[in-house]
Amino acid sequence: MRILGIETSCDETGIAIFDEEKGILAHRLYSQIDVHADYGGVVPELASRDHVRKTLPLIEEALKDANMTPDDLDGVAYTAGPGLVGALLVGCSIGRSLAYGWGIPAVPVHHMEGHLLAPMLEDDVPEFPFIALLVSGGHTLLVRVDGIGQYQMLGESIDDAAGEAFDKTAKLLGLDYPGGPVLAKMAEQGTKGRFRFPRPMTDRPGLDFSFSGLKTFAANTIYKEDDSEQTKADIAYAFQEAVIDTLTIKCKRALQQCGLNRLVIAGGVSANKELRVKLSQVMKKLNGNVYYPRPEYCTDNGAMIAFAGMQRLKAGVDAELTFQATPRWPLDTLPPV
Ligand code: KG4
Ligand code: ZN
Repeated sequence: MRILGIETSCDETGIAIFDEEKGILAHRLYSQIDVHADYGGVVPELASRDHVRKTLPLIEEALKDANMTPDDLDGVAYTAGPGLVGALLVGCSIGRSLAYGWGIPAVPVHHMEGHLLAPMLEDDVPEFPFIALLVSGGHTLLVRVDGIGQYQMLGESIDDAAGEAFDKTAKLLGLDYPGGPVLAKMAEQGTKGRFRFPRPMTDRPGLDFSFSGLKTFAANTIYKEDDSEQTKADIAYAFQEAVIDTLTIKCKRALQQCGLNRLVIAGGVSANKELRVKLSQVMKKLNGNVYYPRPEYCTDNGAMIAFAGMQRLKAGVDAELTFQATPRWPLDTLPPV
């Protein structure tokens, strides 16, 4: 079976075709960075309009890349939430309409389930059950995963998401949107030990996160210090170190609490090299394994939506002719497969 995947929940138009046996046959991504750069963040209305321009041409290109026609497809999957409502509506309306026109099932996909299952596109597939750390621009979630659609929420951020904290701190350092990866690059030149940021909520039990205080701590540090490139890099280093340490402490806690030794990390921030290195070291010590997608499948993409859609298509999902975008959609309300 083959499925087309459409991702338009935020500022990336992602299109992919997934074949159950052969894997990803085509993968196209258009990033709207240039559209939003002048504003220092995503402008929802501009995002929707750009998805309108890009989605259909990218689908045509993906079909060409895979040497396929719509007749070769068995379903169309599209991100139905969570995300920006206008941006989601573009993918939902195009996806639902194409499926109707082509006479095949339409499969609405939960964006975070897409992220969560993305590591399964790699050769080394994690076995259930495992703990998943989902770290993106909009979410920070710790989840116990017993199967597809069997998600128990263990912890989440009570304020900013990890990616959001990266982006806001990057902005304070004067870096361009989206600042997360730029801050990470800058931290490579940073001096270990010059600054120490707090590890929020690690001194008490529980698996929730809070990252908004780190941004304030960064703002105060920037205000007090000189604005040389080295100082900025040192601040970037200390900020990143604090986020990674905090995420690591909570992952270890979740694994211990559930008696598991498999950890999956996914979402944009899981592309962070230092986070991968740190969690790989920790899991080695715990005699366990860490699984993560290749960097292009960490940030938003169509491949993860096609893959998650395939799991739901095989379970018989075919949406009604009406379509619905769900900007807020708790992951643990999904039905098991
Ligand atoms: O999953 P994603 O592409 O979109 C959402 O679903 O939100 O995640 C985007 C987030 C942004 O906040 C971005 O700054 C962050 O992931 N990000 C990173 C890195 N690459 C992307 N943060 C830290 N280090 C990175 N290398
Ligand atoms: Zn995402």
